[in-house]
Amino acid sequence: MTSYDPADSPIGGAVGADPLTFAAVRTRFGDGVADELAAELDRFGVERPLVVTDEGVADAGVLDRVVGGLNRPATRHFATTEPSTADVDDLPLGDADGVVAVGGGSVIDTAKLGSAVAAHGGSAGDYIGVDTLPGPTLPLVAVPTTSGTGSQATQTAVVSHDGVKRGVSDERLRPDCALVDPTLTFGLPASVTRHSGFDAFVHALESLTARDYRWVDERPITYQGANPVSRALSARALRLVHGSLERAVVNGDDREARRRLSLGSHLAGAAFSLSGLGAVHALASSVGGMVDRPHGACLAVSLEPGLRYNLPARGEEYAAVARWLGISTAEHDAAAAADLIDECVRLRDSVGLPASMEAFGLGPDDIDALVENTLVQERRLVTNPRDVRADLREVLAEPLGDE
Ligand SMILES: [Fe+2]
Repeated sequence: MTSYDPADSPIGGAVGADPLTFAAVRTRFGDGVADELAAELDRFGVERPLVVTDEGVADAGVLDRVVGGLNRPATRHFATTEPSTADVDDLPLGDADGVVAVGGGSVIDTAKLGSAVAAHGGSAGDYIGVDTLPGPTLPLVAVPTTSGTGSQATQTAVVSHDGVKRGVSDERLRPDCALVDPTLTFGLPASVTRHSGFDAFVHALESLTARDYRWVDERPITYQGANPVSRALSARALRLVHGSLERAVVNGDDREARRRLSLGSHLAGAAFSLSGLGAVHALASSVGGMVDRPHGACLAVSLEPGLRYNLPARGEEYAAVARWLGISTAEHDAAAAADLIDECVRLRDSVGLPASMEAFGLGPDDIDALVENTLVQERRLVTNPRDVRADLREVLAEPLGDE
């Protein structure tokens, strides 16, 4: 029976014997911190900010709440839900000397790239890849309005370029400050809460159970595998999100649950920005490329196949996580690991997310494309605990009805 704390490494090793990197966004968290935006802009000397947001945030009255007291001229721009490099190039940067993001992941990613283009010119497409920025960006303050992507805590922006989703990853894209104010999420509808919250849940779980950093070849990007710092963050995030997601979906007025989800999603972003993610996100991105469904829904149908795929490499760790979350009292690891997968399925169903890829109209004929699109996602796959070149097809055959 496994008895280690999931926040520690399951495979031993002396802390510090193998070097690691960690960075974290400067964060203010708690009720009302969004009111500190003007003071934050003062800190960075920003006098003419570009505020990137979206119509939903404005319609909900959240935008006026956040930027109402800025006391300086601010240009407002509504970003699209699936930003492209062309959208970033069209930002009204003018003579902006700083960028503020008020919104979810798409808004924050658009703002990140806007702050890079404003500082260095060129087109957003020029910066696709890793460590491509020649210097610092304009000051960037991120104010998340959902509890999900954690983009306010990461060094990456996802954007479509020539019709394909691409990433820009650079430590300079990590915002200068995140104002994580749970009160901004109090009025979110259940649909947004379930999709964004499930994303946070998967960030925490995939980050916690990612390949250990000592087994990931060193590379420029800080997605270096699960390590003593990321595990502590993801374990805390997992408990917070697991204990609050259903509550916040069922009763949007449950403020304690909203606050826990807010902190949990932020810490999950901070965690995976250090560790990286894995096959579940790679598979969900492939699904998302083939059907027009929210990221959270694509994760919902990818989580069980991904966990089952990694089970041979992570049985002991899944068991420890299940016991630590208090969802298993099984004595044997195999049974406790199965309890973790069952709990993920139960949570998915409980919050009302789709159960299978078949619900999206995908079937056996789509397996080849899904496997192919998943295998090219190097960024995700090198931190997956199991070598994904092993038979991924076998895992997709069952959910897609190929007997
Ligand atoms: Fe995600």
